[in-house]
Amino acid sequence: MIFDKVDLVVRNAGQLLTLRSGGPKVGKDLADLGIIEGGATAAKDGKICWVGLSQDAGFSSQRVLDACGKVVMPGFVDPHTHLVFAGSREDEFEQRLKGVSYREIAEGGGGIRSTVRATRKASREELFDLAKRRLDVMLSWGTTTAEAKSGYGLNYTDELKLLEVIRSLSGQHTVDLVPTFLGAHEVPDEYREEREAYIDLLTDELIPEVAKRGLARFCDVFCEEGVFDPVESRTILWRGQEFGLKAKIHADELSPSGGAEVAGEVGAISAAHLNYPSERGLATMRDARTVAVLLPGASLFLKENDLPPVRRMVELGLPVALATDFNPGSSPVYGMPVVLSLSCLLFGLTPAEAVSAATLNAAYAIDLGERVGSIEVGKDADLLILNVESYKEIPYWFGHNPVELVIKRGEIIKTSARTENRE
Ligand code: NIG
Ligand code: FE
Repeated sequence: MIFDKVDLVVRNAGQLLTLRSGGPKVGKDLADLGIIEGGATAAKDGKICWVGLSQDAGFSSQRVLDACGKVVMPGFVDPHTHLVFAGSREDEFEQRLKGVSYREIAEGGGGIRSTVRATRKASREELFDLAKRRLDVMLSWGTTTAEAKSGYGLNYTDELKLLEVIRSLSGQHTVDLVPTFLGAHEVPDEYREEREAYIDLLTDELIPEVAKRGLARFCDVFCEEGVFDPVESRTILWRGQEFGLKAKIHADELSPSGGAEVAGEVGAISAAHLNYPSERGLATMRDARTVAVLLPGASLFLKENDLPPVRRMVELGLPVALATDFNPGSSPVYGMPVVLSLSCLLFGLTPAEAVSAATLNAAYAIDLGERVGSIEVGKDADLLILNVESYKEIPYWFGHNPVELVIKRGEIIKTSARTENRE
């Protein structure tokens, strides 16, 4: 035996979904989950140290878990969330059900700007507590790594406040958070008449400060008609890159805004939404190896008629990932399993493709593809035991939480699913 002693063994998986791959999964490989039937894996010092068949897993270990023929898979990676905000927008939800559009609500001062008003009023402690409860719920649904964006502060003090909350939460919570600076989420009320001054604030003050203090790994922009146009988006993303922040973008969500082209041109690590990308935009993204982050929760919740050309993206060889887009306006969904169901039902992904998109490709969308997202030797031992026998059941039992046990860096985690607490 190579290892005298390991810290944890998980054996007897009916299906061990290894997701082994030399990079993000594209094309036909997207549907290859690297399944080992009767599989097992072992962890030492928080890392996966062995993967194989249960009958060969004769290690001496303090802990041996019997998966009893169920599915064992890598923890979900949620590469696009707006985790930290105060308030909620159920009144806007009702207005939308009565026919008022998301864009009309935004133009009337609601939408993102209404969450900004609530978030500015909230203290760090309140925001921390709200985000922590949300993260607890996400963890109970199997998310072990997530991206978290700022974007509801939209001024110097409050944007930094949100990124500081993300930093302290990441240090204290089981779920690892990867922070993204999204000061360019919207033009705040006080800058409506002088948007250039707001862009100056982002490029001259906030980006340098965020980078200096190591508060974010990525810089994101909402590139959309009426929000930031392609020229402004490029300026902001280039400035972020100058300061070491890799580019992300909300692209072509509500209309064809040229966002996919911007993503490819700046070499963005990911572009999200993509309901209206041009063919040229998709080709540019593929050449830049930009990951297309698909957000079916937002498509459902905004009742979008135009859906992203997902099959075309897969055919073109673009890596596609899935995320919740958790936020109070367009996608208040916590759990990745629900997102998998929606991606199959709305976007036509197969269950296997959806699993790859929600694990390994999602990890690549936040630059962590070499560390998490698959069960391979040397990666973090972030594992889920699910109470299903086939991976196809994950999207099939729609709205059901299949997560029986979460393991984070080799430790068994007690999860508690508490929902939003309203004082
Ligand atoms: O990704 N599109 C921009 N941002 C969010 C929505 C934010 C909100 O409505 O509060 C999104 O869908
Ligand atoms: Fe978003």
